[in-house]
Amino acid sequence: MKRRDFLQYTGVGALGAATAASVGGCAEEEPAVKFWQHGNYRPVSDEVTVTELKVQGSIPPELNGLYVRNGTNSSSGVAEHFFGGDGMLHGVRLEGGKALWYRNRYVDTPVYRKEDGGFGAPKPENTTSAVSLLYHGGELMSLGEFGYPYLIDPDNLSTKGTFNYEGKLPGNMTAHPRIDPDTGELLFFGYNVIEPYVTYMRADAQGKMLQVEPIQMSGPSMVHDFAVTKNYVVFMDMPVRFSWLMAITGSGLPFKWDADVPSRIGVMPRTGTNADVKWFDVPAFFVFHIMNSFEQGDDVIIDAARYDHLWVKSSHDFFHPARLSRFSMNMKTGKASVEQVFDGAMEFPQVNRERWTKPYRYGYGLVVDEENDSPELIEQAEGGIRKYDLQTGTSDSYLPGPSLVPGEAVFIPARESGGGEDEGYLASFLYDRNTDTSAFSLFDATRVSSGPIASVLLPVRVPVGFHGVWVPDSARG
Ligand SMILES: [Fe+2]
Repeated sequence: MKRRDFLQYTGVGALGAATAASVGGCAEEEPAVKFWQHGNYRPVSDEVTVTELKVQGSIPPELNGLYVRNGTNSSSGVAEHFFGGDGMLHGVRLEGGKALWYRNRYVDTPVYRKEDGGFGAPKPENTTSAVSLLYHGGELMSLGEFGYPYLIDPDNLSTKGTFNYEGKLPGNMTAHPRIDPDTGELLFFGYNVIEPYVTYMRADAQGKMLQVEPIQMSGPSMVHDFAVTKNYVVFMDMPVRFSWLMAITGSGLPFKWDADVPSRIGVMPRTGTNADVKWFDVPAFFVFHIMNSFEQGDDVIIDAARYDHLWVKSSHDFFHPARLSRFSMNMKTGKASVEQVFDGAMEFPQVNRERWTKPYRYGYGLVVDEENDSPELIEQAEGGIRKYDLQTGTSDSYLPGPSLVPGEAVFIPARESGGGEDEGYLASFLYDRNTDTSAFSLFDATRVSSGPIASVLLPVRVPVGFHGVWVPDSARG
């Protein structure tokens, strides 16, 4: 995204514009290698619809629905940051064992159309909407972390317009809301660079806003995800902080590690207020993504991909390993502990979403190649999909070597309800470096290391992206 867009859609438009105009220059160094312009990080140029799709293996016939994934795809080709491109959706429609179509479509926002109209009042419409997707209350939404969600038609991936909970969404909405699997309630938040830095929200199963609650943070932290248990929500207050200096003078995202900022985790009853938040001091950390969270006795537990630091030099510096770690917050003693639960760098943790808020055994994630974890070597980095057994401490991995690179693996239950925790499939786009094309692949979640049970071969490339969602026909009513 451009600095201008960022200032505008974070709600600091007029002030930021005036200051930016008077300062000029560029304090943050441009990275030597813009990795997001190379290999499968580079954007695709066309929107396509493909209906004649070749399939290797067998698509389970019970999978009827849409798998769709979001990610950045700069329409100009020269985004200033990996996170900065326009949102593009990649979807595959499955029905009765067949893949009916693949489509990729931009999220049709004013930023994509370049209709931002200059500076002025904050505009929550001005988001790239490039991070994730949510299906809730009968609507498919594209989420961009900043700004409003955009409604998407699941039949053709066209953009229908913004959604703001009948005007009750005050501004930004996280790309990682959580649905309570028992009640259908949506628990979420938005963060901002001006106060209130975090606003907690709750909507019922139909998408009616029930609560909007400002939360007092220690400062403008980047808060990408949060956690929900049966009784609590959990906020992370971390040292990656918004920087006015970078916003005014920099080229990337205006966030940076601040070593002087304490790391804290706040636990609040789901229907509570800011006054009810119990804060726990923890060793310095940053987390983009939480695998799952639940309660055990007096402990509130979150499992997450934990970095011990991030973006110390600049917001282009992604190359540190995250480890799957468990944070335990004891509500009686007020003490917190953190322990690494698996070796090996990982990201994009996932679970069977029927287990959100509950004790669970299995998690899934992407293997990160620590040997080639740099902007120069990332094009040869080897990836993989790993299943974590948190009960036995063992794992089962699909490691395809240098030619195939998987993206986020989303768990799709084999049965609508009542299935075993790992009874289902993992869906992922796999990029083939030899052919410069991608496949949509399904894995049996009980034997991940066996490789895909079905691959829909695409004639095009699906660039490295972020988060996907499975929208079963049964949920659409
Ligand atoms: Fe994310």
